[in-house]
Amino acid sequence: MSNREVYMDHGATTPVREEAVEAMLPFFKELYGNPSSVHSQGRKVRKAFENAREKTAAAIGANPEEIFFTSGGTESNNIALRGAAKRLNKPGHIITSSIEHHAVFDVCRDLEKEGHRVTYLPVDNMGLLDPSRVEDAITAETFIISIMAANNEIGTVQPIEEIGKIAAGHKILFHTDAVQVVGQLPVDVKKMQVDFLSLSGHKFNGPKGVGALYKRKGVKIDPLYHGGGQEKKLRPGTENVPGVVGLSRALELSVEEIPGKKAALEALRDRLIDGLLKIDDVVLNGHPEKRLPGNVNVSFSFIEGESILLSLDMHGIAASSGSACSSGSLDPSHVLSAIGLDHQTAHGSIRFTLGRGNNESDVDYVLEKIPSVVENLRRISPMGKTK
Ligand SMILES: Cc1ncc(COP(=O)(O)O)c(C=O)c1O
Repeated sequence: MSNREVYMDHGATTPVREEAVEAMLPFFKELYGNPSSVHSQGRKVRKAFENAREKTAAAIGANPEEIFFTSGGTESNNIALRGAAKRLNKPGHIITSSIEHHAVFDVCRDLEKEGHRVTYLPVDNMGLLDPSRVEDAITAETFIISIMAANNEIGTVQPIEEIGKIAAGHKILFHTDAVQVVGQLPVDVKKMQVDFLSLSGHKFNGPKGVGALYKRKGVKIDPLYHGGGQEKKLRPGTENVPGVVGLSRALELSVEEIPGKKAALEALRDRLIDGLLKIDDVVLNGHPEKRLPGNVNVSFSFIEGESILLSLDMHGIAASSGSACSSGSLDPSHVLSAIGLDHQTAHGSIRFTLGRGNNESDVDYVLEKIPSVVENLRRISPMGKTK
């Protein structure tokens, strides 16, 4: 085992930054009141909670009353999609893409069982969705369009503003799962013309198990849960105050830092991509330019991504194969299949996601270790090519 550790799995989750931890601590200790309580302990907590809502809203160009705190991206997606379907109260039509995260994809599959019709739009071989396909798919029954802002596996960034314009033109609800984008690229819900946007704290150096749903003012959906009056009854239950405070602090800082960090991260990403492509029989998955600043996804022919991961782990390098949320499954990822990769190439894919704390020396360390890892695995591979 190596004593060096290089974490390149920020797409799966990120370490909580110190400022967020500091901001959260008082809410585990002296400020423990329930924000719904009328006593001064409760009122102090309410004030901090609403302040966190204001910061979260400001980070994405929303108004505070448009922010609903949830337990993360998965719940935000469910509240938007299922809530809109529930409100419709009859079978309708949903448009989504074939490369959504399971937190949208599987919700759509489930809504199909309830009688809704779903169009899963294809993407090109770089994972890009053509907005005209969205327009062409619209029918009189379409009540919601859900297209992710950027893909978690291959990093392709979608033309959300163009799709937003189409949705608005047809007066159809538009949801975007922006879990991978918020904190990495500038986000403005008004410019995107979205009715719903999902974000998650643990993808931008905030805590896990906390997220938010932006719901445009005036848009009506039905709640999935019933209970107290929290979050205007859309997401009842005593609020995760420390989590929300930590999320808002991390979000505020990560958005502030975008101008300085984006180009630096892209340079590291491209250095890693260039180095990896020097190895024989390696292809880049996803779009070369329209791609998340920290995302690198490559396929190594003749070997399994899982074996590469384990070998990299021996060198202290943390990466992932396919989507972290779906790892454990041996099926090739639906995203890699949707961009046209054959079974074997899809299985040989590895995702490195760079983030806060990574530097050139980390990239060089990976590039130093990976050629021998690949060579050794190819030597014993039953899938062909031996040197
Ligand atoms: C695009 C996307 N959507 C949704 C989720 C789920 O978010 P959470 O883990 O906060 O439920 C993830 C997490 O990997 C994601 O990448």
